[in-house]
Amino acid sequence: MFKLTAKALACALSLTIAGLAQAADPIVIKFSHVVAENTPKGQGALMFKKLAEERLGDKVRVEVYPNSSLFGDGKEMEALLLGDVQMIAPSLAKFEQYTKQLQVFDLPFLFNDIAAVDRFQQSAEGQALLKSMESKNITGLGYWHNGMKQLSANKALREPKDARGLKFRVQASAVLDEQFKAVRANPRKMSFAEVYQGLQTGVVNGAENPYSNIYSQKMHEVQKFITESDHGVLDYMLITNTQFWEGLPADVRGELEKINVEVTAEVNKQADALNQEAKEAIIAAGTSEIIQLTPEQRGQWRDAMKPVWGMFEAEIGADLIKAADSANQQ
Ligand code: LMR
Repeated sequence: MFKLTAKALACALSLTIAGLAQAADPIVIKFSHVVAENTPKGQGALMFKKLAEERLGDKVRVEVYPNSSLFGDGKEMEALLLGDVQMIAPSLAKFEQYTKQLQVFDLPFLFNDIAAVDRFQQSAEGQALLKSMESKNITGLGYWHNGMKQLSANKALREPKDARGLKFRVQASAVLDEQFKAVRANPRKMSFAEVYQGLQTGVVNGAENPYSNIYSQKMHEVQKFITESDHGVLDYMLITNTQFWEGLPADVRGELEKINVEVTAEVNKQADALNQEAKEAIIAAGTSEIIQLTPEQRGQWRDAMKPVWGMFEAEIGADLIKAADSANQQ
């Protein structure tokens, strides 16, 4: 009798353990971002979700929250550190509280084009920056492109003097602040979710964005002119919470790492085309005139803004600026 009971108990116990294992909750990865889904970052987040869930089955569930619907600027980084979200991809302009080195990406007229940005990101110096915040519990998983920024306003901006006295929305970046001060404009830090309304109500008169962000936030409806200035870059670092990442089961982390490499390559392949499509859609909408600068006009903007490099050289490091600049020559 006793024997039977013990056997039954052991059996019941092993069934319970098996049941528990089966019912184990999936690891939930919340991926929060501030842009629309039809942008390079929006697409990247969805691609990551699709591949992770396809390849890891019940082990992982990815929840994507676009358009600042879970956390906006200023809050998403805090949320990552508190474990309220597990992945975010802030623009490289939004890291200055964590490292001054990433300010290199904000320097005006540093990169000739997105290909130069890409070469710098893939260089030893660029890759080292991904690991530069681990002591602060932030691990960089890769760089995602959006693209080069264009200036917009309700006034035609052809020469630096046209910007004088205008209020420009900037991301939370001291470099971008100085960039607008250099042309005697007034920078205003504002979170991304507030930009459309800020432009519509005149709290700010202008902004700087890649075409994909202008179009997907309908900023072209409230900006009569877009100057194709390509004066700086808006790219992202895909980041996770270091402790969370290192605590993942090795097989899950390994698969997610592979997926990240694939998604990053795909985002970076598609970003340019998405910006081109957005530009064409803006032209088709007919709300804004796109201004092409002459080489002389572009030179004037460069001359006015480039002194900003010197202001941040000590914080960023002269060698890092040099390494970034040399990516133009390769
Ligand atoms: C911005 O605030 O302008 C951008 O960082 C938004 C984004 O994530 O592209």
